[in-house]
Amino acid sequence: MAHLIAPSLLSADFGNLRKEVEMINNSEADWLHLDIMDGVFVPNISFGMPVIASVNKYCTKPLDAHLMIVEPDKFIDDFHRLGAAVLNVHYEACVHLHRSIQRIKSLGMKAGVTLNPHTPVSVLEEIVADVDLVMLMSVNPGFGGQKFIENTIDKTRRLKELILKRNSQAVIEIDGGVNYETGKRLLEAGADVLVAGSFVFGAENPTETIANLKRL
Ligand code: DX5
Ligand code: ZN
Repeated sequence: MAHLIAPSLLSADFGNLRKEVEMINNSEADWLHLDIMDGVFVPNISFGMPVIASVNKYCTKPLDAHLMIVEPDKFIDDFHRLGAAVLNVHYEACVHLHRSIQRIKSLGMKAGVTLNPHTPVSVLEEIVADVDLVMLMSVNPGFGGQKFIENTIDKTRRLKELILKRNSQAVIEIDGGVNYETGKRLLEAGADVLVAGSFVFGAENPTETIANLKRL
């Protein structure tokens, strides 16, 4: 499939949120990536339910929610109500990951599992066939604008092998430090969806940057 681009709202101008969402609507972005942080699972707090409800009201693109929170199970139903099309939970935050994935899917959302940089893809052996998406963190979660962790390129290749071996339909999403250079190499390694925060919203022309990322 042609690869997808999911700009991350974390690097947007929150003083002009509606304008930023409209920019996304009028761009070639495929999804809008929403980073939810609780200050416990990651050392930062981003935005919560009322903000997401407003984004959902104005955004015409599917919402790709990335939960960087402890006990994500508590909020699966809330995120469904808030309009998430894709719901990503962290492997490291889910004691009963299979149950979490089944709940997400039963509500009609795409179920994604996310791995921190230190978590090997081998932990997904028994679950990869059940998920719609695997997201690899290519930075330590919590902040936008960090440096890309180079090991993610090889890790993407290993994940692709695992997906094929297990006959999984999962797509591979990569989050953190994506730009034209890292993005191109990630796509060559087997990535299907690229998240880009600061590279898009920090650009002089975000719309054009999204279009260029689509053509990598
Ligand atoms: C980091 C978030 C990312 C972040 C990426 O915890 O999960 O989605 O917004 O930002 P960049 O693209 O600037 O690395
Ligand atoms: Zn994210």
